Amino acid sequence: MITNTEIERRGNQHPNQITEFRQDNDKLYFTTQNGVILEIMVMRDSVVRFRYATEHVFEPDFSYAISENVSLGYNELDVKEEPPEYAITTGKIKIYVKKSNLKVQITDLEDNIINEDEQGFHWEESYDYGGNIVKMSKVTQSAESYYGMGDKASHTNLKGKRINNWATDSYAYGKDQEPLYKSIPFYVGLNKNIAYGIFFDNSFRTHFDFAHERRNITSFWADGGEMNYYFFYGPKISKVVESYTNLTGVPELPPMWALGFHQSKWSYYPEKKVKDITSKFRELKIPCDAIYLDIDYMEGFRCFTWDNRRFPNPKKMVDELQKDGFKTVTMIDPGIKIDRDYWVYQQAMDNGFFCRRADGPHFKGKVWPGECKFPDFTNPEVREWWAGLYKEMIADIGVHGVWNDMNEPAVMEVPSKTANLDVRHDYDGHPCSHRKAHNVYGMQMVRATFEGMKKFTFPRRPFVLTRAGYSGTQRYCATWTGDNVATWEHLWIANVQMQRMCMSGYSFVGSDIGGFAEQPNGELFARWVQLGVFHPFCRVHSSGDHGEQEPWSFGTEVTDIVRKFIELRYELLPYLYTMFYKYIKEGLPMLQSLVFYNQEDAQTHFRTDEFLFGEQILVCPVQEPNSQGRRMYIPKGKWYNYWTEEVVEGGAEKWVSAGIDKIPLFIKEGAMIPKYPVQQYVGEVEIDQLKVDVYFKDGVETSTVYEDQQDGYDYKKGRYSLRNFKLKGKQEGLSIQQFKDGSYRTAYETIKLHFHGLPFKIKTIEIDNDEVDFKSVKLNGNNSIEISKDFTSLYISAK
Ligand code: GLC
Repeated sequence: MITNTEIERRGNQHPNQITEFRQDNDKLYFTTQNGVILEIMVMRDSVVRFRYATEHVFEPDFSYAISENVSLGYNELDVKEEPPEYAITTGKIKIYVKKSNLKVQITDLEDNIINEDEQGFHWEESYDYGGNIVKMSKVTQSAESYYGMGDKASHTNLKGKRINNWATDSYAYGKDQEPLYKSIPFYVGLNKNIAYGIFFDNSFRTHFDFAHERRNITSFWADGGEMNYYFFYGPKISKVVESYTNLTGVPELPPMWALGFHQSKWSYYPEKKVKDITSKFRELKIPCDAIYLDIDYMEGFRCFTWDNRRFPNPKKMVDELQKDGFKTVTMIDPGIKIDRDYWVYQQAMDNGFFCRRADGPHFKGKVWPGECKFPDFTNPEVREWWAGLYKEMIADIGVHGVWNDMNEPAVMEVPSKTANLDVRHDYDGHPCSHRKAHNVYGMQMVRATFEGMKKFTFPRRPFVLTRAGYSGTQRYCATWTGDNVATWEHLWIANVQMQRMCMSGYSFVGSDIGGFAEQPNGELFARWVQLGVFHPFCRVHSSGDHGEQEPWSFGTEVTDIVRKFIELRYELLPYLYTMFYKYIKEGLPMLQSLVFYNQEDAQTHFRTDEFLFGEQILVCPVQEPNSQGRRMYIPKGKWYNYWTEEVVEGGAEKWVSAGIDKIPLFIKEGAMIPKYPVQQYVGEVEIDQLKVDVYFKDGVETSTVYEDQQDGYDYKKGRYSLRNFKLKGKQEGLSIQQFKDGSYRTAYETIKLHFHGLPFKIKTIEIDNDEVDFKSVKLNGNNSIEISKDFTSLYISAK
């Protein structure tokens, strides 16, 4: 029976009037008469944190999401008390806090409302678990749009959707299915060309309602913990995403091979099968850098063991594969088989590393090996132990990359698909139940894996891949979008998921190309490869319970198409590597949704299909069978059709031809796109010349090329080569200036500039202000010239 007092406790409670205000440097505290404290922390002029306590008490301030390298510091912080409210002014925004009810309104310095509380903070006591269900509601403006939120398989613009974050093993998920594998409680709002972001840093199950339940209200709440969110002011979306990415961190540069093509299946075994696959790549001359071993390489699915019948000498195999240019990536799951004769199990038992239920017994759950126990990765000691377990696999056997799967954690044969909610966790010294630790469990597992990999791979760079993740997981590893399906709808889903992840600070991401469950036909596979080569992480993976899913599995026509697109990816490696560099340097997402690229243009706000690969290549996948092309929106500006070199004027929808061997692909005018020769794997050949495709523009455009040793850490000591190009074109001449940075000397000595769309015939060439003769630069018609990589200025003209 529910008593009256309980009903009262269950109802929503709201802050009432402010009775006290206090400032402590960058922190402002507003206390209400009924015991709510709002802490506003000004981190930067455009980044502000809001935290709410009830009953006068904050929780200990601890988060797994926040990066150690977050930038702090503002230019201005001014607080004024006025009769109805407190007015806080930073160098970029104003925050008003109402005295009567603690409601917050945020405006820019011109008083445009950016974000405004509806009920604002409110809460409900949790009768079952204690603590509060913490809630926030905001006003939605009529033309407001919402983006971000991690891996959601929904329209890029989330307006009208309700979603929730609870890392879940979602085999063969569908469009709009909730929740999925990751929990990234960050969104971007856009209204009247002003963008802002909100990151609700709370690891309990979180819920977001973007004007779904009530047309003019956006709300978010969590099953426990604190109302603790960060507000980022744009006004550009790029600024918002950069600030969020700065707060939650970026990875280190991956080894360049990790940006090559990867082939996987559940599972390639025995050793002979693995080698047949890798040899076939070389024989058919389809570039490939990595081969994956799924769970069947293990002895009875025991992590850190090898099945000696299938793989009698793993070290020898890994070495041989490496000689052939293949890196080996192995899977490690969190569930440890209950087996008294298994050393990993014994060590964890001896040290008390397994998670326990509320009343003391170990938590047990079924995964691939049957009954398992699960290490508590939220305990730093457990993470250190876990990192150390990789020694044999990485340092001795020589495996190059590790793939952490099932780390939501996934548990089979139970309705919840995961651990019981009463399971206890250390949470780095803040003991709690699985309700709070669930969403960070996978993140802490890959964090430990990353630390082990980094140690044992040194001086090379590690490669780690995860399925589950919380905000900040991008600091440790790449990720993929889990068990998708070989359908055309899933091709669409893959496209929106990658854009959304990039908008959510997590750029190193890819899908199982071709689909994990079920079998694609050749056409779907070819279309998916055409899209997948433009995703930061590019891997074919499939469940293996159907036929083959290798590039040659669908007949020669498809093999040739697949080869052509993988080759294009390898040619574009320096461009892709530069994208990665900009991602970690500036927080710039590697893929940009059209709204990110041009938020001023309202046409872009509801586009899902087109996206920018880096900053200068526009891609739009063909997502329907039997297509000879498609309609697509080309953003404003002039673009070169990559295949025909025809220049199109954007700002409109256009029909673009793309038979089965093409994907609609456009290059921004003025772009200088660096290319390497096709290699069968990264490092196969020494790059003896950098090719740069120069797309003429009547105007100015800048481009960048970042290079280094492609592995190792010397780049952190300045040993990199950064070329910034400034192109300035006119109808009768074109100049390119080069500004260089970094102390790395590339192996090549010359750059071959390949001109596209030059409106004049080259009559004179000046390098570093001296006229040169055509022979010395190997002028080839109007097409190309070869010049020293150290040039600082080039001028070609019709006169
Ligand atoms: C999970 C993974 C999938 C893997 C399989 C077997 O379903 O998502 O990628 O192949 O487990 O390990």
